[in-house]
Amino acid sequence: MRILRLAEEARAFSRSARAGGETVALVPTMGYLHEGHLSLVRLARRRASRVMATIFVNPLQFGPREDLSRYPRDFDRDRSLLEREGVDALFAPEVEEMYPAGACTRVVVEGPLTEGLCGARRPGHFAGVATVVAKLFALSEPDVAVFGQKDAQQAAVIRRMTRDLNLPVEIVVAPIVREADGLAMSSRNVYLNAEERSQAVVLSQALASAQASFETGERRTAALLEIARRVIASAPLARLDYAEIVDAETFLPAEQVSSPSLLALAVHFGSTRLIDNTVLQPDREA
Ligand code: PAJ
Repeated sequence: MRILRLAEEARAFSRSARAGGETVALVPTMGYLHEGHLSLVRLARRRASRVMATIFVNPLQFGPREDLSRYPRDFDRDRSLLEREGVDALFAPEVEEMYPAGACTRVVVEGPLTEGLCGARRPGHFAGVATVVAKLFALSEPDVAVFGQKDAQQAAVIRRMTRDLNLPVEIVVAPIVREADGLAMSSRNVYLNAEERSQAVVLSQALASAQASFETGERRTAALLEIARRVIASAPLARLDYAEIVDAETFLPAEQVSSPSLLALAVHFGSTRLIDNTVLQPDREA
């Protein structure tokens, strides 16, 4: 596996692969890899003949009171995990390489896609994500890029940006990978102490309870959200940030679930914020 530190090296890798008739899949990450990330790599390998993973803890997407400085990192472990998965190139630039002095361009996806859910709580977050992903696309020129449904709003923002900017990249979204008890895998799960970790299962339980009610015919979003909220409230250490149901395409809220919709949760445990979601499919009647 090649380790690339410079934007020009990433571009040269991709260009020479494509000149040799290969296709290139990109898997952007912030490192501290887990099975969720590795599932994206495996999907990328099925979708292209060369895979480039990236590790970059992107300062632009962290708010001033967020966890940028303590975000977990373990480059050597990440490198060997990616090597074992058969990744061809790992692009891991320094902050100065991605944002040299004077850089002042932001990619901003406007409207309902970024106004609700995490967009409302983390001002500037999705502009930071869209900017870094646009840069990664520009410098690695991939055929395909793989993202996780775990960050459903992020995936929707990236799809929209790619379409709006006519970027020639196919966006593939992979399903959420969970721990045995249902907790969605996340690099941030390491922040949880033992008690928080055991109670964190309420996110997936809340989604499952609401999904079960939906499948037996409940279509009122208020009723479905009430079920989810009640499950979250059963965990004494959980502090609900939001529970919302929005149209899965437009991210607009509705009183009834009449189109494929996203039920999304954000819950604080101490200083750790966890997110999870499930899709409600109204055409799949019980
Ligand atoms: P990071 O949180 O490291 O996640 C990298 C990719 O892994 C994202 O596409 C995310 O949705 C996916 N992922 C994380 N946990 C997952 C899980 N349990 N199951 C499936 N996929 C999972 O998301 C980012 O980094 C950054 O915002 C990034 C896109 C790299 C831009 O900086």
